[in-house]
Amino acid sequence: MAVRALLHYALEVPDQAVGERFYKNFGLVSEPGRDNAVHLRPAPLAREVALLYGGPKKRLHHIAFGAPGDEFQATRESIRRAGVSEIDPPKGAPEGGFWIRDPDGHAINIRQETLPALPPDPPLRLNSPGHITRVAERGYPDDLEPRPRRLSHVLLFTPDLDRLINFYTRILGLRLSDRSRSIIAFLRCSTDHHNLGLLTSSGPGFHHAAYEVGNIDEIAMGAMKMKERGWEPAWGPGRHVIGSNFFYYIKDPWGSYAEYFHDIDYIPEDCAWEPQDYPEEDALYRWGPPLPEDFGMNREVE
Ligand SMILES: [Fe+2]
Repeated sequence: MAVRALLHYALEVPDQAVGERFYKNFGLVSEPGRDNAVHLRPAPLAREVALLYGGPKKRLHHIAFGAPGDEFQATRESIRRAGVSEIDPPKGAPEGGFWIRDPDGHAINIRQETLPALPPDPPLRLNSPGHITRVAERGYPDDLEPRPRRLSHVLLFTPDLDRLINFYTRILGLRLSDRSRSIIAFLRCSTDHHNLGLLTSSGPGFHHAAYEVGNIDEIAMGAMKMKERGWEPAWGPGRHVIGSNFFYYIKDPWGSYAEYFHDIDYIPEDCAWEPQDYPEEDALYRWGPPLPEDFGMNREVE
């Protein structure tokens, strides 16, 4: 029993139009509204991955995980056996699946679904010492628009890291990939190094959602375009230690973030991956600009 995919996240935000503009500038496309939410998806993916509901202030509305085929009933049964009660869907939430709350009060939707297949990019052709893949051909990129391919993970604040790790691994079957002390932990339900990150704070909150792009050029050009469009740059480019991804974070209209990333660690289902507990200095990055002071600030508990 286990969930196998992070399907989407939903935020409640004070201005849906501003949120829609931010994510469209970021590179997502919006689907025509079928309800009161703004529905956003990466252009190549035939599924929405971010929903924006109206509300008094920014907060996480819910997260949806996929448990395809037999995993759906098995996960539901395991949740029942663990004594976790199902709840009614939050008002206006998408139909389907069943709902529970995590120990921080976040609504979680488990759906009998998997993510649609993503059309693969052509292989990267990079020249490196001793490995030439591009011959007699100019390699600089076109003036490209950032084009997120898929949602990979969300990172949430939590006041009790171990309680949440325990819930998501024991009840939903996620696996711990790595952590850093009692600061941060990374869990996966797919081959991505992490689909859910948990960062210690004084209360629950939404920190960021991360989208995969095609290469490091696209990260940097995405960052540049977002700055041109008036969105405050936040942090990057850099490279994480935990998960190994190149990153750039853009501050969203509510002081949380959207991340462009590339080259995250890939962990197949059956492999010998031992979670490591990293020292504090490795919790965030191997290289990059200095961490902005407010990067870890949870504005939902101010
Ligand atoms: Fe991230």
